[in-house]
Amino acid sequence: MTPFRDARIADACAVPLDAADDFAGWREQARRLIMAEVPPDRVTWQVPGEGSDDLFAAGKPRRLPAPARDVMPPRVPRTFLELAGKAALHSDPQRFALLYRLLWRLQARPRLMEDAADADVRRLGDLARSVRRDIHKMRAFVRFRAVQKEDEEHYVAWFEPQHHILRANAAFFVNRFTAMHWSILTPEGSLHWDGEVLREGPPARREEAPFGDPAEELWRRYYAAIFNPARLKVGAMLKEMPRRYWKNLPEAALIPDLVAGAQAREAAMVDQGASLFGNERPASLAAIAEEIQACRRCPIGCNGTRAVPGEGPRHAALMIVGEQPGDSEEEQGRPFIGPAGRLLRAHLEDAGIDPERAWVTNAVKHFKFVSRGMRRLHQNPTAREIDICRWWVESERLLIQPRLILTLGASAARGMLGKTISVQKERGRAHVLEDGTELWPTVHPSYLLRLHDDGRAAEEARFAADLRKVAARLGELAA
Ligand code: URA
Repeated sequence: MTPFRDARIADACAVPLDAADDFAGWREQARRLIMAEVPPDRVTWQVPGEGSDDLFAAGKPRRLPAPARDVMPPRVPRTFLELAGKAALHSDPQRFALLYRLLWRLQARPRLMEDAADADVRRLGDLARSVRRDIHKMRAFVRFRAVQKEDEEHYVAWFEPQHHILRANAAFFVNRFTAMHWSILTPEGSLHWDGEVLREGPPARREEAPFGDPAEELWRRYYAAIFNPARLKVGAMLKEMPRRYWKNLPEAALIPDLVAGAQAREAAMVDQGASLFGNERPASLAAIAEEIQACRRCPIGCNGTRAVPGEGPRHAALMIVGEQPGDSEEEQGRPFIGPAGRLLRAHLEDAGIDPERAWVTNAVKHFKFVSRGMRRLHQNPTAREIDICRWWVESERLLIQPRLILTLGASAARGMLGKTISVQKERGRAHVLEDGTELWPTVHPSYLLRLHDDGRAAEEARFAADLRKVAARLGELAA
């Protein structure tokens, strides 16, 4: 069934739009088409600069049929309009056809947008997401270079958007750089702001934009100063700052060297953490449990919470290291007694590891949180906080001398290794420490708890497999 009586329109309609990002034009035309009961397969959208075979098949643009007399204007949920406004800026030549198909179907199924399995609804979401990402990238990666223009300083930036987002981003740049005179040049068109009026200009070429100016040196120094080697995850960095943008970013030239020097800077950070303590390590586990209560060497230690010591047998063969105590752990002063602890224990038992025979502790001894009403929400410790607290967990290790250490999550791995590793890449195998102790990293059970539905079972299976390997290795070491 079509939304209306039947599909009356036999001829195809080729509907012209004014520009590649002409969402307002599409809305206007789409409204008239729906009211004239023109089904989606009879409509072709003509966008300047985007030729398509369909377009020619549809023939010349023609007058839209008159609306049927008793047809109401189309109604759509707000979510559709929000997503459609973004998706209309996508570079996919089929975007306007998709929008019209959805608009048509929504007249018969007003709750269609709630059907996350519907292919059109999913595609709309994908397009909108990709456009939002491009808008964000442009805001983050446009770099102005100063040029002298008629006695005044003018700033020019070159950017290559993936989608038709230039106009959609104009207000952001006007608000952000109101006092400057600037131009943003792109292969799609340009924007020029003179402090009062925003003008649009034609597409530009890369050569028309300047390369390099003294402001870049400043920018580079700033970037080098804020670059945190301990937080370096090359994969994540590339995702956030894809290589295709590097050529226009002055600071990108620094990245290879900063990455190469990251290890040395990271080691220096770890040493700095240790330098806050004297040379003498605590003589017993009881001394550690007592001294951590008074530790104020990092901001977490100063937040007024109780420190949570490790617990278990004094000479445990297995040491299990988590990130930091959570809400319940802080309240009761014992590690891993909340939801993550319960999941961990269940998996340990399934793998044949007796949790009571392990030394269970954390890389960070105090609970870091933000208050939201009555609730205390967990916050990740910084690399520096982990490096400071490393003194305590390392002291525990030296006293217990476990055969094997199981670290849960990235903070725990850093706390024991003194450097950041990619847990997903390094999990399920041994890292041999200087004294021969084996460290086996895996993910944190809280990570599993945060996963929903489809991903969770597969990730739990991987976690279980990691623990089975640890159990097998413990058996070998004991033998
Ligand atoms: N998460 C941890 O990392 N440690 C705990 O003790 C509890 C939750």
